[in-house]
Amino acid sequence: MTELVHNSVLLKEAVDSLGIRSNEIYVDATFGRGGYTFEMLKNINQGHVISLDLDEAAISFGKQRFNSEIKTNRLILLKSNYGQIKDAVSSAGFNSVSGIVFDLGVSSPQFDDPERGFSYRFDGPLDMRMDQKQDLTAYDVINTYSAEELKKVFQKYGNAPVPYKVANAIVKSRSRRSIKTTLELVKIIEDSLPEPVKRKKGHPSKKFFQAIRIEVNNELDSLKDGLRQSLEILKVGGIISVVTFQPLEDRLVSKTFRRLAQYKSYPKGIPIIPEDVKPQLEIVQKKAITPTEAELTNNHRAHSARLRVAKKIRKISFR
Ligand SMILES: C[S@@+](CC[C@H](N)C(=O)[O-])C[C@H]1O[C@@H](n2cnc3c(N)ncnc32)[C@H](O)[C@@H]1O
Repeated sequence: MTELVHNSVLLKEAVDSLGIRSNEIYVDATFGRGGYTFEMLKNINQGHVISLDLDEAAISFGKQRFNSEIKTNRLILLKSNYGQIKDAVSSAGFNSVSGIVFDLGVSSPQFDDPERGFSYRFDGPLDMRMDQKQDLTAYDVINTYSAEELKKVFQKYGNAPVPYKVANAIVKSRSRRSIKTTLELVKIIEDSLPEPVKRKKGHPSKKFFQAIRIEVNNELDSLKDGLRQSLEILKVGGIISVVTFQPLEDRLVSKTFRRLAQYKSYPKGIPIIPEDVKPQLEIVQKKAITPTEAELTNNHRAHSARLRVAKKIRKISFR
């Protein structure tokens, strides 16, 4: 049965990091079931929270849950990709905001609904789209990508073991008949993995499913665009906070933050340091914030979570 509840990860840490002031504008870039939005709204009086999600089901749920906050315009809930956060914020009537939070990945209701095809635990269609209106599905990736393309996806986005074996097994299997369901794919993966790999910790299909999901939703490009645009529309003094669940995302966030938190090179010996070479971001905490023992015990989704927080200290433009 579909679980409607999403147990938010690093909720207090992420929302507190924004230092919300009651009459300013904040963005929740990944609304989900509104756990973060709810906490953010507690601190908003004259200001607004703009919340985005790509998933139609998340938006319809949010429209019901936050009916009164939407009516009074304290909450502006939009179906949008955070890769287009600038346009979304501008469609809400604003061009800058005081804080932005991302809580990446899949929500529990998405993961636990077999029809969405995200999980290797339930049988369902090979779908995996966050945005149900998008054309590309996991079915297309599995049934039309060449063995070489599949291998690259498994390697690049999943760091998956023996990617070529699994890619070849998929191509062989689909030459007999197309692969339609999650559990058909799980079987193909399991049958092609060597015993020692299967005995390792974690579900043998996990890395492959993660890789396919990242490919279907073009997750890393959206995140890259989302981060850049967020840094542009953030006011000087504003905070960006990002919760990630896997190393590829975390590396992208930490690299982006670190690069902007450094001095750019400039000719040594000049009397005044030019403004445009000075750091544009300040990293608020050097090490990523991770869940407490208590949260880890109560929420299995929290295990790989890492929160990174940065403050904008100078104008940023990527153009
Ligand atoms: C982990 S959940 C967020 C949970 C939320 N913080 C809460 O407490 O309820 C991630 C959400 O981000 C959404 N999402 C994923 N990629 C997105 C994108 N590119 N643009 C907008 N939303 C996206 C998913 O649909 C999902 O609902």
